[in-house]
Amino acid sequence: MAKRENFKSRTGFILSCIGAAIGLGNIWMFPYRLGQNGGAAFLIPYFIFVLLLGSTGLITEFAFGRAFKAGSATGIIATFAEKGKKGGKLVALIPVVGLAGVFMFYNIVVGWIIKYFSMSITGELFSIDVNNFFNGFSGTGQTIFWNLMAIVITLSIIYVGVAKGIEKINKIIMPALFVIFILLAIRSLTLPGAMEGVKYLLNPKWEFLLKPNTWIMALGQAFFTVSLNGCGMVVYGSYIKDDFDIPKSALSTAILDTIAALLASFVIMPAVFAFNLDPMAGPPLLFITMPTIFKAMPGGRLITIIFFLSILFAAISSSINMLEGPVEAVISQTKLNRKKASILLAIIAFILSIPLNLSMTRFADFTNFITIIVSPLAALIVFLVFYYVGDSKKALIEINKGASRKLGNNFIYLAKYVFVIVTIIVILLGIIYGGIG
Ligand code: ALA
Repeated sequence: MAKRENFKSRTGFILSCIGAAIGLGNIWMFPYRLGQNGGAAFLIPYFIFVLLLGSTGLITEFAFGRAFKAGSATGIIATFAEKGKKGGKLVALIPVVGLAGVFMFYNIVVGWIIKYFSMSITGELFSIDVNNFFNGFSGTGQTIFWNLMAIVITLSIIYVGVAKGIEKINKIIMPALFVIFILLAIRSLTLPGAMEGVKYLLNPKWEFLLKPNTWIMALGQAFFTVSLNGCGMVVYGSYIKDDFDIPKSALSTAILDTIAALLASFVIMPAVFAFNLDPMAGPPLLFITMPTIFKAMPGGRLITIIFFLSILFAAISSSINMLEGPVEAVISQTKLNRKKASILLAIIAFILSIPLNLSMTRFADFTNFITIIVSPLAALIVFLVFYYVGDSKKALIEINKGASRKLGNNFIYLAKYVFVIVTIIVILLGIIYGGIG
């Protein structure tokens, strides 16, 4: 068997985790969800969930991966076997299949981004009616080619491997992403009328805190944005050495992910208000509203190119984590090597994505099912296996290896009870209320 790869540096690991975390969740979903769920009031449940549950989740996933030097499939199967319990293989499938599902719907949207990016380069985006275009493009066969492009880009990075592919690309694109976003935020905030957008973001509509939907959305968003799905971050954790500081890396990931989401909101909303557009436009905000704004802005063409390029960076760095999870599972559970496993999975994901390309209703139903039920359930499974089926004392020792500030038993209570109970409640509420998406 080939020697297991590792991240070469701590910075490379943290940037790769931030890359996995920051993506369409921050740039596409967060600004409109914030707008639709009470503005600044939404930030309260969101901060609680990201900083408390998100970092607890990341600490757990990294440590689970490092403990077994393998992804969650191997860890789950080994823990079940050690305790003489049956059904490990079946349970182990859920996080892997779930993450493959995320990869599928995600890359449809990445495909739209690539199409918009290419139209901004050719200038086509500035001569069409963006409103009609998006409605006639999404949910049709025209997106299949772009979906394939998105998958091929991700595949080409995963094919190369952990240090030379994932780590290298994240070290370049993550710093670039932050620089671009800061510049875009300055541009947006200096537009005449932009302050109305700032007020909109900062003005809390407290009554939203009484609606269960606000809390469901905040939790779903928090899990999605830090990539808690019981698989991707476990795999990244499995590529780190014992002297890496897991709690610190988890907290840095959660904090920088939150900063990126806020930054994206301050790029998008001030511009929306400066041009008197609808901040509640929802999903089309990025594909209809933003191009409309850029068209009317001086220097808009260059800004559009940079804008879609930065989103592409953010999305690809997340997408590679979504493919790496299932690829690692196939490599560790079968005789296939990285190259064969990655090509095979990319082909399967592409074929299964075709029906999702063809109908927006199907796409939305699938996305909701995966993000509100499967991913939180998969994250929950890792918690149950690590802390309940396995030994929570051993788990704490693993978490604290290499940590500059050791976590105590309180962390185990937080993980075993608070995280688990809240996650179960929110999955149930998500099912009852039709959930996020
Ligand atoms: N965490 C990734 C995102 O926010 C999946 O897009």
